[in-house]
Amino acid sequence: APLTIAIDGPSGSGKSSVSKAVAARLGIGYLDTGAMYRALTWWCLDQGVDLADEAAVVVAAEALPLELSTDPEDQRVVVGGTDVTADIRSTAISSEVSKVATNTGVRPILQQAQRDRMAAIAEETGGVVAEGRDITTVVAPDALVRLLLTASEEARLRRRSAEVHGAVDEEAIAATRDQVLRRDRDDSAVSQFTVAADGVVTVDTSDLDFDESVEAVLAVVAS
Ligand code: CDP
Repeated sequence: APLTIAIDGPSGSGKSSVSKAVAARLGIGYLDTGAMYRALTWWCLDQGVDLADEAAVVVAAEALPLELSTDPEDQRVVVGGTDVTADIRSTAISSEVSKVATNTGVRPILQQAQRDRMAAIAEETGGVVAEGRDITTVVAPDALVRLLLTASEEARLRRRSAEVHGAVDEEAIAATRDQVLRRDRDDSAVSQFTVAADGVVTVDTSDLDFDESVEAVLAVVAS
């Protein structure tokens, strides 16, 4: 059977970087489901779709012209022919993405697209690491390995601050705090991703560095 690995967690848990490294080490493909919500948000803004118009966003989700690479070491996101790999990580998108992710018509469309992509990647590469907020619970509850990455709020803010501002001084952390905590709150409306569901193994990365986090996940996969 293909090696399907589902990883959930909040921002700053190390989820994306660790998931990519795990996929690379295992020689299997990778799916960043958050990139799909971000790509849809970018596309709506580009097309002038009002994010508050839930039906219009659903129409956009159904027709989203998305290309996502499956190589964990070469992630590219292309929407309608435009490379948006960097743009979808902007503050502008991060601050709007929860509006799209809490649209109850959008979620089943992207969740089904994610299941289809996981199956295709697994067939092509022998496995897949899929990461997000609802992979262990809704998208792939039958995955072979299911993990929740957690970290203390302090550790999450420090990591996100380093990513976004390239600094971990007080000012940078304060600037990060509002955004991260607001998105946590907005996202918690649709998925409970901070408590492990039944059968899901929790890995707390608060006191682990990047390499230790990767090893901890690989140890669960091997067990
Ligand atoms: O930046 P961060 O790693 O925290 O988030 P991401 O994985 O890029 O996901 C961006 C946003 O997409 C989240 O804040 C959620 O609103 C949404 N999302 C979701 O609702 N369900 C998923 N499976 C993945 C992401």
